[in-house]
Amino acid sequence: MKKYAEMTREELQAELQQVKARYEELKALGQNLNMARGKPSKAQLDCNGPMMDILRSDSDYMCDGIDVRNYGNLEGLPSCRRLFAELLDVQPENVFIGGTASLQLMYDTIAKAYTHGRVMSPKPWGKLDRVKWLCPSPGYDRHFGVSESFGMEMITVPMTPEGPDMDLVEKLALDPEVKGMWCVPKYSNPDGIIYSAETIRRIASLKHAAPDFLLMWDNAYCVHEFEGDYVPFPDILKECARYGNEDMVFEFASTSKITFPGAGISVFVCSENNMNYMKKLLNAQIISYDKVNQLRHVRYLKDKAGVLALMKRHAAILGPKFKCVLDNLEREIAPLGIASWQKPKGGYFVSVNTMPGIAKATWRLCKEAGLTMTGAGATFPYGKDPLDSNMRVAPSLPPIEQLEQAMDIYCTSMKLAALEKLLA
Ligand SMILES: Cc1ncc(COP(=O)(O)O)c(C=O)c1O
Repeated sequence: MKKYAEMTREELQAELQQVKARYEELKALGQNLNMARGKPSKAQLDCNGPMMDILRSDSDYMCDGIDVRNYGNLEGLPSCRRLFAELLDVQPENVFIGGTASLQLMYDTIAKAYTHGRVMSPKPWGKLDRVKWLCPSPGYDRHFGVSESFGMEMITVPMTPEGPDMDLVEKLALDPEVKGMWCVPKYSNPDGIIYSAETIRRIASLKHAAPDFLLMWDNAYCVHEFEGDYVPFPDILKECARYGNEDMVFEFASTSKITFPGAGISVFVCSENNMNYMKKLLNAQIISYDKVNQLRHVRYLKDKAGVLALMKRHAAILGPKFKCVLDNLEREIAPLGIASWQKPKGGYFVSVNTMPGIAKATWRLCKEAGLTMTGAGATFPYGKDPLDSNMRVAPSLPPIEQLEQAMDIYCTSMKLAALEKLLA
């Protein structure tokens, strides 16, 4: 098969006839498929069924000398803090256990910066004319949603295979109106990139003009390998401390994709200064989070070895799904030269960059043929991908048979969009 860019107009037209016929066949099946969001599948959720049997009416609810059913311990159960400290290679006193979603902790951290300021803020951000924010892109749409909801001026920073473009980050951080940056450092959403040691060093040692610059280090995929063994990853708090920057960073994680999304536990990790400040503010907001769920998690997961063993079971379910996506792209799309993609070994996504100008059209064709994909553009601030090229494929939810059908629709739609563009 020739690359589309090398075909004559006649060859493109002949190809269009064939692809269109295949597309109509697929559309006629009237399917209802979804590769839009990074949700664990039923099989993955079923892995964790036994966690629900751990606590019963006659169970021992004491942990660390605390009756978990009662008020108290705002920062979380000591055992639960120790579990996350081991997972993230930090000290338990730097760990705060929150509610059922890390996104809420992230939103709250930023909301507090707006209402009260950060520990070192000259003023609450809500009193400033403008707050600018660095958004490595493609990135996580919900991060951008948080920034947008506070009216931040989002600045797109391109991603490289090593992480965000650090030359640009270092330059932009010299603007005192730039107050922070989103990062998903391990198996980034959607690229699946692991930030390199050099990128991490440059971020940790970042010179920022804003005294209250906030590094939002969302380590959502810290133990989420679906191929190969667990990849150790440096602790950002220690890295930042090495350069006197420990108050700059909040790290976040959760068990959303370890146990149950929406019913797991979330965590932030920060310096002593930040911890004291946040506890003071949070104390006005809540007496304590759900320690019953924390205990359930501690008894079920036990320790890092327990978590990694569970993640191997998730990997056995997820690995073949990612293989299916990558094999289809390799077979159907690679020879045509109309897209490129990363080949991640962890995380929840495959990030596809189509030839410029066809992501939206591909999305629409998928939709019309019964396949819902993440909105084209969603991986960029304000939902605007300047090249109309990036598409996030989320293979975790559908069973593998459905995934094969979904990839058939996806690849056919992309071919059709490319041919229509080239012939236009
Ligand atoms: C990078 C990233 N952060 C956070 C989340 C959501 O985490 P939680 O369920 O803990 O709010 C996701 C979910 O897809 C994600 O991809």
